[in-house]
Formats: sequence, structure tokens, C-alpha cells
Amino acid sequence: MKIGVLAEAQPGETRVSATPATVGELRKLGYDVIVHAGAGEKSSFSDEAYVAAGAEIGDPLSADIVFGVNAPSSAQLDGLHAGATVVSLLSPALKPELVEDLGRRPITALAMDAVPRISRAQSLDVLSSMANIAGYRAVVESAHAFGRFFTGQVTAAGKVPPAKVLVAGAGVAGLAAIGAAGSMGAIVRATDPRPEVADQVKSLGGEYIAVAAPDVEVSSTGYAKEMSDDYNQRAERMYAEQAKDVDIIITTALIPGKPAPRLITTDMVASMKSGSVIVDMAAANGGNVEGTVAGESVVTPNGVTIIGYTDLAGRLAAQSSQLYGTNLVNLMKLMTPGKDGELVLDWDDVVQRAITVAKDGEVTWPPPAVAVSAAPAAAAPTPVMAVKKAAEPMPASRRFLGVGLVGALLFLLAAIAPVTLRGHLVVFALAIVIGYYVIGNVHHALHTPLMSVTNAISGIIVVGAILQIGQGDTAITALAFIAILLASINVFGGFAVTRRMLAMFSRS
Ligand code: NAI
Repeated sequence: MKIGVLAEAQPGETRVSATPATVGELRKLGYDVIVHAGAGEKSSFSDEAYVAAGAEIGDPLSADIVFGVNAPSSAQLDGLHAGATVVSLLSPALKPELVEDLGRRPITALAMDAVPRISRAQSLDVLSSMANIAGYRAVVESAHAFGRFFTGQVTAAGKVPPAKVLVAGAGVAGLAAIGAAGSMGAIVRATDPRPEVADQVKSLGGEYIAVAAPDVEVSSTGYAKEMSDDYNQRAERMYAEQAKDVDIIITTALIPGKPAPRLITTDMVASMKSGSVIVDMAAANGGNVEGTVAGESVVTPNGVTIIGYTDLAGRLAAQSSQLYGTNLVNLMKLMTPGKDGELVLDWDDVVQRAITVAKDGEVTWPPPAVAVSAAPAAAAPTPVMAVKKAAEPMPASRRFLGVGLVGALLFLLAAIAPVTLRGHLVVFALAIVIGYYVIGNVHHALHTPLMSVTNAISGIIVVGAILQIGQGDTAITALAFIAILLASINVFGGFAVTRRMLAMFSRS
């Protein structure tokens, strides 16, 4: 089959749905690729680069499968032949008229923005790839508009404090913003009504600011719900305090299917220092900030810049095209089971079902709900018969009795043993005590490398056995040989295990 790559019809769109690198991947799956002339120009991919990757330049509407970033225009849809499959962002929940139009045509339409957020579908999740890029770009935009360093410095000309950044909403975009701002040296704080993100914020070097309210709970869907008035009032007080302190605010708060929650009010903006910057990533969904103008950057009378760009991912066009194109390649891998360039739509696969908006003249949207859970799965109740009690510590009396008995046994052995053996028994007893305390205090995770290296101690057996092997007695020679063999396995095996463990931690 042939895949066509559209030149984007939407004004201002800089991305393209395939790059020379992804064309190579599609060719490996058995597809021919036809790219519209100049389709990759705004993403810095030339027609020559596509041709070098194995594509031809021509009319993508002649293809069996048509790739786009945005929904094709009506003119482009009219040019498709019957039975074609369109793959692009379609916003089916927000554009019912487009869904109806697609449903009237003898084509199949797959919406890349309807990929369910389940682990198996992560490699196709365009919204996550784009939000990740947009979060990063939001920090770059804020740094560009902010007239100071992000990182603190001590210079000959004076001390510079680090910038303080507040990220509201720690989803994909928020986490990317936390990572980017932190790596530029800023002090980063973040808040989110889903308490489970606290660890993720901390792991990126940010400080999690919790809003203590009764309705704060771990989300079972991975998305936030609409919060109570109580939560919103407490959050408002927190934002009012933070606004006076921080230099940059990046808002990413979103509740699926609802307008973006309003987090930052005009009064809060007015309380910010002159030169501060707000990036409202939710501008396209109504905005988290009072005063945001979607698609624009405005400066308030007190000198605060509010950036409401809705094309943040597109501002890193080459990167976005590469990740979007890779998401499409991953979809094609899923839908090309024979790797033979033949697209197969598996209606029983939840991911393929979820993204199919229209099929052969029929609207198939909305799909049946897919269970999505970001919450840790509850532990399955253990059957009563299988319940095993955790080992309880041995009572002190029994411990002392055990130690006393072992001591008495060693004493008895020392009393009856020949004089030459007594010294060895003392060393043996001391080795047990010291070994118990030394090994017992090493963290469990380190036991295997520790043991595999201490195996080398059995080298002493090899030395002893070599000394015995030439005695002339056949039994002793045989025993010495076995000892050398087993001790050598122990020594070399120990090092081999250590090597393998270390290889797991080293970068290739
Ligand atoms: P997401 O759904 O993964 O994250 C949204 C986060 O907001 C969630 O963690 C949620 O718990 C949090 N949230 C919800 N209500 C909140 C509240 N009252 N206070 C604080 N946090 C709250 O979404 P994702 O993918 O991270 O995208 C974030 C936003 O960025 C969306 O609005 C999306 O449309 C936008 N976006 C904007 C782009 C642009 O060019 N401006 C490009 C890509 C995404």
C-alpha cells in the first residue's frame, strides 16, 4: 500500500506528519511513501531528504493511507479515493460536524488524539509527545521573555539569585516544564490536586506544594476531577501567596471535557513583580489565567507578560514532527501485523477501536470506554489458606539459649580436639561471629556483588589443594583435584556474576 504525506492546510502549522527518518521506518514495514512537495519545509526537511529516504514527491491524495498533522481540509477530503484511510489529529469530541462529514464519506478516519492513555498505547500517544515538547517550549518562551537568568550566579559584578518558577498542574506538560526549568537552574515548585504526582515532582528536583483539602485523592483515571469550592478557596490562597514570591508561572491545568479551571486571577497577576512572566498553556481551552489572550503574548500594566501561545509544540517544528511521525510509525507497526505494507484494522483491539472515528460511511465515534488507571492497583486479597505470617523476631531468651548451646559445643570440641586443631576452632568461631555482624549489616541489595567477590576467598582452597596434589596418595590427589575444580568454579563464577551485574548499570 501507499502512504501519502499531506502538506498541512491549516495556516500557521509548521509540523509535518512524516520525516525522512520515519519514511525509512515506513518503508521497512513494506509501504511506499509519497510526500507532497515542500511538505516538510517549515520543519527543515527538504524534498531531497525525503527522496533520499526512499519516498517519491507527488500527490499524497492518490495514496491508500493519508497522513496529516491536522484534519485534512474539505478540499483534501474530496480528493481522497474510496476506501482510503486518513490518520491525523481530529479532535472528535470537540468537532462533531467534522465527525459527521467523515462518516458520510466511504473512508476510514483514525484520530491520533483519541489514543487511550494505557501503557500499551504509550508509543502512539501523540497528546503526550506534543505536551512534553510544549512544556519544554513553555519554559524556553518564559526564559526569553524574562529579563534575567534562571540560574543563580555569583559574579564579580554581584550576586544573582535563581529565578523561582511555579508550575500549576503536573501532567505531561507540567512535568516537562519542571524538568526544563530545573535544568536551567531555577527553583521550581509545582502543585496538582492529584497527590500521586508529588513523587514525580520531587524526582525532577521540584518542590511539591500540596493543597490540603478533603477532596484531594489519588485519581483512578490519571486525570483530575473538578475540585470542590473548599479546595478552590484553599488553592486560591496558595496561588495568591506564590504569585507575590515567584518570577515565572506556567499553568497546564486541564480537566478532560471541561473548560480549563481558572487558577490565577487578575489580582494575583497585579501582585506579581514587574518583569515576571506567565505562560498559560491551557489558553486554547479557555485559559487558567485571567487576562490570557489565546495565541498572543500580552503585557499587563504592572509589567507582567502573559503568554497564551497555542502552538507551543509547533514552535519546535522539527522535534514535534519527528515525535509525531514516530507515533504514526508505531501505529503502522500495530496495524501491519504481516510487515507487508498491508494495513489491517483489528476491530477487537481497544486501541484501534478507540481511534476509529468513522469507517466506510459510518460514524463510529464515540468508542466504548476504555478502563484507564494511573492509580496503583489495589493488592488482591490473599486467600485465607495462603496467608503466611511475617517472620516474628526470635524471643531474646531463645536467642541466648541458642548462642549458649553453640558456645558449649565449640568449647566441648576444643576440649577433646587435638592441640593443633584448637587454634583453628578459635579462628572458625571468630569468623562466624565477625562474618555474621559484617554481612548482616550490608544492605540486601549489595549481598550478591559482595558474595560473588568474597567467593574469591576460596582461592585459598586452590592454593591448599595444589600443595596436596603431588603427595602420591591417589585418594588425596583425587580430592585435591575436585577441590581445585570446585573452588575455581566458585572464584571465576563469582567474578562472572559481578561483571554481569556491573554491566546492567553501565551505559553501552
Ligand atoms: P494532562 O491532563 O496530562 O495534565 C493536566 C494536569 O492538570 C493534570 O495533572 C491535572 O491533575 C492538573 N489539574 C487539573 N485541575 C487542576 C487544578 N485545579 N489545579 C492544578 N492542576 C490541575 O494534560 P497535559 O497533556 O499535560 O496538557 C496540559 C495542558 O497543556 C492542556 O491544557 C493542553 O491542552 C495544553 N497543551 C498546550 C499546548 C500549547 O501549545 N499551548 C500544546 C500541548 C498541550
